[in-house]
Amino acid sequence: MQLDKNFLWGGATASNQSEGGVLEGGRKLSNVDLLPTGPDRSKVAAGDLEMLEWKDGYYYPSKVGIDMYHRYMEDIKLFAEMGFKVYRMSLSWSRIFPNGDEKKPNEEGLAFYEGIFKELRKFNIEPLVTIAHFDVPVHLIKEYGGWKNRKLIKFYTHYAQTVFQRYKGLVNYWLTINEINILLHQPFVGGGIVFKPGDNKEEIKYQAAHNQLVASAMATKLAHEIDADNKVGCMLAGGSHYPYTSRPEDYQEAINRDREGYFFIDVQARGKYPNYALKKFAREGINILMGDGDERILAESPVDFVTFSYYSSRTVSAHPEDYLQATGNIFPSIKNKYLPSTEWGWQIDPLGLRNSLNQLYDRYQKPLFIVENGLGAVDTLDENGNIEDDYRIDYLKKHIQAFKDAAEIDGVELLGYTTWGCIDLVAASTGQMSKRYGFIYVDRDDDGNGTLNRKKKKSFDWYKNVILSNGEEL
Ligand code: BG6
Repeated sequence: MQLDKNFLWGGATASNQSEGGVLEGGRKLSNVDLLPTGPDRSKVAAGDLEMLEWKDGYYYPSKVGIDMYHRYMEDIKLFAEMGFKVYRMSLSWSRIFPNGDEKKPNEEGLAFYEGIFKELRKFNIEPLVTIAHFDVPVHLIKEYGGWKNRKLIKFYTHYAQTVFQRYKGLVNYWLTINEINILLHQPFVGGGIVFKPGDNKEEIKYQAAHNQLVASAMATKLAHEIDADNKVGCMLAGGSHYPYTSRPEDYQEAINRDREGYFFIDVQARGKYPNYALKKFAREGINILMGDGDERILAESPVDFVTFSYYSSRTVSAHPEDYLQATGNIFPSIKNKYLPSTEWGWQIDPLGLRNSLNQLYDRYQKPLFIVENGLGAVDTLDENGNIEDDYRIDYLKKHIQAFKDAAEIDGVELLGYTTWGCIDLVAASTGQMSKRYGFIYVDRDDDGNGTLNRKKKKSFDWYKNVILSNGEEL
């Protein structure tokens, strides 16, 4: 069995990591514009250091990103040359609603994305649009405290409704909130939350989660009402947890840690809170303020498909202090001695992708979509000015084989695959440009030097052929 002939091959980016032009076209500041490089980045991301405006002495890489705001035509042309069937991108909330709580949207922002969608359509590229990818207008943080405030449900829903109406006929695939489970680990990035001393952090995070889940369900409902052709997905920062040993308590820890993320998708895909979460709330004294119609809206509007990012599996133990920790995509993990690591210490586990796909499909029985996967690596130009990124090809080849196995051998229903950072962009965790994922090189360094010119890497032609052969030639 082969992949479906309509399999959606492509690549993914996010507005805050690529667009730049943060104060152009009427746009105002958003939380992610305020993440500096350097040691304070993780404190700001976690909501432990308030940074609600640009401060002297810091470098903010999202200010310029890779200047896609001015160069998207050139970039889309390159995506088309690779044969992309789909391009995953995100809208900047504050480009469309600069403060977030206005009644009327900013026409210039809406027109900007319309231009992108029309350009994509010209090349028969299907847009897959994330409505909020680590993105909360700063005004909503200053005025309302971000997603911990229930009013955000109304503002987000109004934003979603506006874009569903405006882009009807241009966009049919939508994701409500990127990596929704990141909220528990990086509350400022995921929810625009800044903690004050004495805050009950767990309660605030789960309250924000509830508000996002209700908003996501309302958006799903509206998307279907506005256009019956709309398909809406949720988005999980994926990667299953392995127990470090066969001790039963390690396995139990792995189940619990998987549930931390599945909690969100359980609500979005099954339409109700799982019992293990309700028990946790009761046990830990986490009181969630729920509105009257909340349970009904969650039940009425589950998502159509489930998407996730996959960079690595994670390894856990009931006694993590006994082991060496690995670095990874935000989540803590013990170093798995059976796996190699990237230059950034993220462990490489292609079979883990097949396993995750199987777990998710068994659990939800909904079509899946891998919307992020890739290798962050340093690329250097050789003496001829070329980038021979065989390491990236090797990484992607193994992961593509793994998801093909999941589809072809295990029968997992898979809609598509978008590699992360199909063009080099700013890294979310560190703000670096030197952590590159792209098939297309962007001439810019970690300090903001460079021409921003684009250049194809060796992997560009390789991926083009993968798409052309529908994954038969890797
Ligand atoms: C995911 C995010 O967490 O991982 C992306 O959705 C991010 O925004 C990606 O860029 C890779 O992480 P990083 O830190 O290497 O950019």
